[in-house]
Amino acid sequence: MIIRLTPAYLRALEQAASIAVRQAATLPALEAVRVEYLGRRGKITTALQTLPHLPLEERRGLGRQANEVKRRIEALLIERRRSLPTSDRPIDRSLPVGRPERGHLHPLTLFSRRVMEIWRSFGYDVYEGPELEEAKTNFDDLNVPPDHPARDVQDTFFIQDHPELVLRTHTSTVQIRWPKSYGVKPPFKVVEIGKVYRHEATDATHESMFFQCDGVLVDRQVTMAHLVTTLKAFMDRLYPGKPSRIRPSFFPFVEPGIELDLWWKQPSKPGQWLEILGAGLVHPNVVRSMGLKPNQWQGFAFGMGLDRLAMLEYGIPDIRLFYSGNLEFLQQF
Ligand code: DAH
Repeated sequence: MIIRLTPAYLRALEQAASIAVRQAATLPALEAVRVEYLGRRGKITTALQTLPHLPLEERRGLGRQANEVKRRIEALLIERRRSLPTSDRPIDRSLPVGRPERGHLHPLTLFSRRVMEIWRSFGYDVYEGPELEEAKTNFDDLNVPPDHPARDVQDTFFIQDHPELVLRTHTSTVQIRWPKSYGVKPPFKVVEIGKVYRHEATDATHESMFFQCDGVLVDRQVTMAHLVTTLKAFMDRLYPGKPSRIRPSFFPFVEPGIELDLWWKQPSKPGQWLEILGAGLVHPNVVRSMGLKPNQWQGFAFGMGLDRLAMLEYGIPDIRLFYSGNLEFLQQF
């Protein structure tokens, strides 16, 4: 088609194009409008191609006008494209919307709460002590002497310029803090679940930060029978039907000390005894640290790592996954 390019023709073209854009109800229809006006053989493109044949004095003004019209039509196309549904399938507004994704508790939190609920049901108070702890409470008050290897810089995070402070290496500190910082008078029984820190090389079963649960009971004439019965009742609630055994052991803060092992057997794998917790009758020196007289009050105490138990529970092969912030891992729970 031979056209005569005039300002009026360009205005008419722009008007027709903007109406066509507005009327295009689907993306394919809009694309057809684009091709009709701006495609290689489109009306605007063809009009621009006639420019070189025009007298010089008309050429400049019309050229600018034609380019502006082109830009405005392009802008209209872009705007319209945004407002159209991406599929030409009609939208069914009565369909239920997808459920928004919800967060959930960390596997260690889930497991800790289970452990906590069992102790609570046994009548234990729950305490939350400081992670930045006095070296005295973490060690001395618990009958851990100054030359004990657990204090070694290899194991303990000390605080620079504050030799009196450490990141607590165990939650056994609850034995001192509950009666001393809170002024709680015996008889009492209390558990604490929280983070502890040890300066260790990390691997699949060791992290420098992990979770422990410690508990202590103080009363008159507490014996090993009370302790063993309590621990067995706890294990029966946590892992019903799994056999457990008690072995003699040593911890500075108890005398005598024991460890409890659990028989862990998975289908088609050989079973094994797993060390679950340490415990014992509170050492007389620790009873004194509590501000109590050992000839009047006795107690038992126990402590366990929660990460390893949670790993067994959920079949997690590497402790570092707990603290990796890896969403693919966390979303499985
Ligand atoms: N604190 C010990 C540890 O971190 C565990 C422990 C052993 C706690 C015996 C106790 C206990 O209360 O009586 O390995």
